Amino acid sequence: MHKIYVTYPFPDGWLSLLNGKVEIEVQPKNQFLSSNELGERLKNKDGAIVLLSDKIDKTVLNKAKILKVISNYAVGHDNIDINEAKKRGIIVTNTPDILTNATAELTVCLIFTLIRRIIESSEFLRLSKFTGWEPDLLLGYELKGKLVGILGVGRIGTEVSRKLHALGAEIVYYDSSKKKEFEKETEAKKKDLKWILNNADIISIHLPLTKDTHHLIDDKELSLMKETAFLINTGRGSIINESALADALRLGKIGGAALDVFEHEPGVNPHLLRLKNVVVTPHIGSATYRARKGMAEIACKNLLAALEGEEPLYRVV
Ligand code: DGY
Repeated sequence: MHKIYVTYPFPDGWLSLLNGKVEIEVQPKNQFLSSNELGERLKNKDGAIVLLSDKIDKTVLNKAKILKVISNYAVGHDNIDINEAKKRGIIVTNTPDILTNATAELTVCLIFTLIRRIIESSEFLRLSKFTGWEPDLLLGYELKGKLVGILGVGRIGTEVSRKLHALGAEIVYYDSSKKKEFEKETEAKKKDLKWILNNADIISIHLPLTKDTHHLIDDKELSLMKETAFLINTGRGSIINESALADALRLGKIGGAALDVFEHEPGVNPHLLRLKNVVVTPHIGSATYRARKGMAEIACKNLLAALEGEEPLYRVV
């Protein structure tokens, strides 16, 4: 029987597809392993189900001599050294599609939370500051008619655009290729990054984290944005230089930010937490019962297929 390692004690039943098919070792919750330690655990394993917070680097892979498949419980796979895995003939899989709607809905939710000042309003009330209705109390912005720049029109960027278009926003997008069908469906227009930074009222990030997108949004880019513009990130934290963003927000160079992902998770730049025009959530884009359970099923199917020499549902390499 194949031996596999799972880096998180998933809720009961989520990995039931593996029952009786593989021998499983599960990493207890809150046990943080160094690369060396994780490598040791993978030493005699044929497969692994890992989280986006597990760094699968060269050190890990050097020790995992018989590993055949890494089933990543995420769509993003920047936590894995894909080239090193490929060199060793290790199959890497991921879990797209099932989490697209959940992540897109959270993105829309964050936009409204930010532009209608929901967190601030709730705090205001809880602190007993509400002394009566006032015409100019806690004014915000409407989404309808706003120009939204979508950075990255993959599955999630596309779904976010559909939802925002249906709500009356105008969509412009930055992507490596022109998306004709997408343009037809959402009336979106392709623009370069600088144009979007200069003109968009809201910018939402949906690019994968790669060498090219690391700190794509830095001091210079933030300074090109409108003073009233809002920046949303439900992709990967390191696409934004977080300290540059904190400075830009503190100095009023942009209007606000809503962030579900951070550069050094689980850490968050403390300056961001002090700002009223910042909404933060702890990487919950896909955190719905349907999406997270579905991701577990797909991770199991990917793993089993690869171990049995079949083509997994979603293969990265
Ligand atoms: C992913 O899958 O990459 C998300 O960040 C978590 O669902």
